[in-house]
Amino acid sequence: MLNTRQLLEIIEKVGIADWGAGYFSINEKGDIICTPKGNHTVGISLPDVIEKAKQEGLSTPMIIRFPELIKNQLERMHSAFSNALQEFNYSGNYHGVFPFKVNQRREFIDSIVECGKDLGWGLEVGSKTEFMAALSYTMREDALLICNGFKDKEFIEMAFLACHMGRKVHLVVEGPDELEMILDKIKTEKRDRSKCPSIGLRVKLYSKGSGKWQDSSGSNSKFGLTTIEVMNALALLDAFDLKTQLSMLHFHIGSQITAIKRFKEALKEAARVYAKIIKMGYTPSYLNIGGGVGVDYDGSQTSSESSANYSLQEFANDAVYVISEVCKNEAVTEPNIVSESGRVIAAYHSVVVTDIREVQGEEKLANIKDFEISSQSKESGQHLKELFYVLKNMTPKNFVEFYHDAVEHHEDLYTLFNLGYLSLEERAVSEEVYKEICLKALHYSYQEKYQSEEFAALKKIYESKYLANFSIFQSIPDSWSIGQLFPVLPLSRHDERTSHQATIVDITCDSDGCLKNFIDKKSSKTVIDLHSPNDKPYYLGFFLVGAYQESLANEHNLFGAIHEVEVHSDKKDGWVVSKVTEGDPIKELLTCRNYEEHELLDGYRQQLEKSSLSDLEQKTTLIQLEKYLSCYPYLKE
Ligand SMILES: Cc1ncc(COP(=O)(O)O)c(C=O)c1O
Repeated sequence: MLNTRQLLEIIEKVGIADWGAGYFSINEKGDIICTPKGNHTVGISLPDVIEKAKQEGLSTPMIIRFPELIKNQLERMHSAFSNALQEFNYSGNYHGVFPFKVNQRREFIDSIVECGKDLGWGLEVGSKTEFMAALSYTMREDALLICNGFKDKEFIEMAFLACHMGRKVHLVVEGPDELEMILDKIKTEKRDRSKCPSIGLRVKLYSKGSGKWQDSSGSNSKFGLTTIEVMNALALLDAFDLKTQLSMLHFHIGSQITAIKRFKEALKEAARVYAKIIKMGYTPSYLNIGGGVGVDYDGSQTSSESSANYSLQEFANDAVYVISEVCKNEAVTEPNIVSESGRVIAAYHSVVVTDIREVQGEEKLANIKDFEISSQSKESGQHLKELFYVLKNMTPKNFVEFYHDAVEHHEDLYTLFNLGYLSLEERAVSEEVYKEICLKALHYSYQEKYQSEEFAALKKIYESKYLANFSIFQSIPDSWSIGQLFPVLPLSRHDERTSHQATIVDITCDSDGCLKNFIDKKSSKTVIDLHSPNDKPYYLGFFLVGAYQESLANEHNLFGAIHEVEVHSDKKDGWVVSKVTEGDPIKELLTCRNYEEHELLDGYRQQLEKSSLSDLEQKTTLIQLEKYLSCYPYLKE
């Protein structure tokens, strides 16, 4: 058990309080805990959740979801805006909508809709598919349904049907042609105009975001209308006598905005456009400021790529203040503010957990010291003897020279093996002795004031590789595709010292399936501190993965969606696993690739019939193969 001082030291060392936003910490047993309702509530031990999930028949890898954490994030965002509206005496309201694309998993959207009901949260969609899913939810009457993205006639017709169903739909025009299609449809509608979708215009701002997604904005971005296109759109509304149908102006300067300054610039520009349009006699009542609020993945609170240099409250204050100042200056009524934050709402709510299968490169020859050199050639025997000599006599003073000697002997032995002068056993011994020499040399190199490039490169070769039972492409695809950093920590044993500086490799057959960059407050690190696995499972947690990772997940090597458990706090037991969803079985992954189950079975059956197996053996083999089609594709314990 850790005492308070030790606990605080460890929390500081691993940085969990910096990126955990009050949701993650460590308990006295050294286990990671989650407090889904924020600080000062009961902590749920993640290793305990895994044990419980195992009792329910699940195994790692799995996602642990905390729906209460989603609710808490929605409330944090809502109260940040409520505070700001009050502080600046703002006359408009605030409306939140959640962008579907950030996590389209049914389990997640169910939670967003449920948790956002009391706050009137709406949904934002960017495609017909997302729209059809969003439309299936019964929402509060004032909850907005915002349609961004490029639209065709069919998408527009869907929006009209939704309005007839009583939904508050805003069709945000992304390009010049869309508006004409919408206006034509309104004109042909026999019903009351208030039953038609409202129209929004997405404005292309000059201001740009910051960080990895800054190209989503600025005059060169692919989204939104230029000023001349806005003017044409306004004229078209006028020509159709539908000026009052314009309800919203929208902008979005990209995801993960790292610097608050960029938001302020965009807000100033957008509010000015809004005010000018009002002054032209149009009456949009919403200013939609998009998403983009950054998540502080590395806990540094800076404008670096994996962080954000502002809090939610600061963001809300700046949004309300800037808009209200521009409106005062232009003497127009303040608009209702809509935000479409996705990442900051979703990121914290889920943790991917997996087990470590092995530490690569740790195998040792048991009897290396007793090895007797009886080489097939004099030359190879001599090189082997030299390697043993180097290992025995290397000191802090001679290590560089001795290491260079070892490199030569090792290379010569490799050549001799290829010429047939070395046995496999001798090759194994030479590799083992050479590795020990390298590790010894590395050890001495750490004691030098400056580590040379040569030894820095050697260090990389001998870093431990922990084989984690998951697919990076499925569970944290952004880490592979754009180098996004996520906090990674062992879920237990924080009361013990770590023994290895390691990188993490996944179980896909792809050399890109590895993690070589880890968060650090000062800069990123190329290794993570881990414990030596013992006889108990060693679990790693990948945190803040709730936004975009499940949407972008790909099934490389046909590793599919992983098991899921939902955890809720509970008055009686502290917490309960409230829902279990099994991951994709092999057959589902194959069906998505057009392999029908019955065809697969036919294929197996035909081969069995031609085999030398008896009828009974053929039957039992087929039953076994059918069972395998229902298996989880990840490694079993
Ligand atoms: C139009 C629009 N709105 C909202 C979002 C959500 O952004 P974020 O998840 O960064 O809050 C996006 C994503 O880039 C978007 O394109």
